[in-house]
Amino acid sequence: MNTNDYIIRPEEKDDHREVENLVREAFWNVYRPGCSEHYVIHVLRDDPAFVRELDLVMEQNGRLIGQNMFMKTVIDADDGRTVPVLTMGPIGITPELWRRGYGKAILDYSLEKAAGLGYGAVLFEGAIGFYGKSGFDYARKFGIRYHDLPEGADDSFFLCKELIPGYLEGITGVYQTPRGYYVDDANVEEFDKSFPPKEKLKLPGQIFSD
Ligand SMILES: CC(C)(COP(=O)(O)OP(=O)(O)OC[C@H]1O[C@@H](n2cnc3c(N)ncnc32)[C@H](O)[C@@H]1OP(=O)(O)O)[C@@H](O)C(=O)NCCC(=O)NCCS
Repeated sequence: MNTNDYIIRPEEKDDHREVENLVREAFWNVYRPGCSEHYVIHVLRDDPAFVRELDLVMEQNGRLIGQNMFMKTVIDADDGRTVPVLTMGPIGITPELWRRGYGKAILDYSLEKAAGLGYGAVLFEGAIGFYGKSGFDYARKFGIRYHDLPEGADDSFFLCKELIPGYLEGITGVYQTPRGYYVDDANVEEFDKSFPPKEKLKLPGQIFSD
């Protein structure tokens, strides 16, 4: 990748529709037939937990090719403390540019920016194959459990990175997904009608197959 061929900058109001379309293209049929992430970001921008300073887009030749965003949330610690942390995503790169390093570039940039703002840790659901390269590890190694997960269930999707080294030391507890991420399917359907028609396909597996 030519590291000079893009800029990363804050998302502006005028970008909203283009970013939603980019996210729709990136997530379409990846995790389910169609996707909900374009509606999720539409809703999250107005959520009190949304971190405006970390709402970032990647631009190349005047076109948006990537985005990432963060939300504030907490770990309910077993000792009764409430530990503020960040969660992340959706993060997306325009599909024709996958596997060229752009995803890692915006991810690393935004994590550095989050660290610079003083946030202590980021936890979220993702695939270690991609995020491991940016310093994420399984959240269980930090003693953090995913909410509502039955005992013994696979938790390898649940990842964590400390932005302040040692931030989670001495803490065990349960991570909470911000409520804003839970959207109503009917609202997704309705919102999706405002975009060009796109075929929903049931596809085996997911993108992180290797
Ligand atoms: C996930 C996503 C943001 C990655 O962006 P990207 O620009 O393709 O990623 P990069 O090129 O920076 O990848 C960096 C490394 O991560 C790993 N990686 C990235 N995509 C991968 C994939 N599909 N399968 C396995 N490993 C992958 C690879 O090790 C890669 O390095 P390599 O290409 O030298 O092997 C992009 O594929 C995307 O938008 N996907 C759809 C939306 C999505 O799933 N978002 C994440 C939700 S958790």
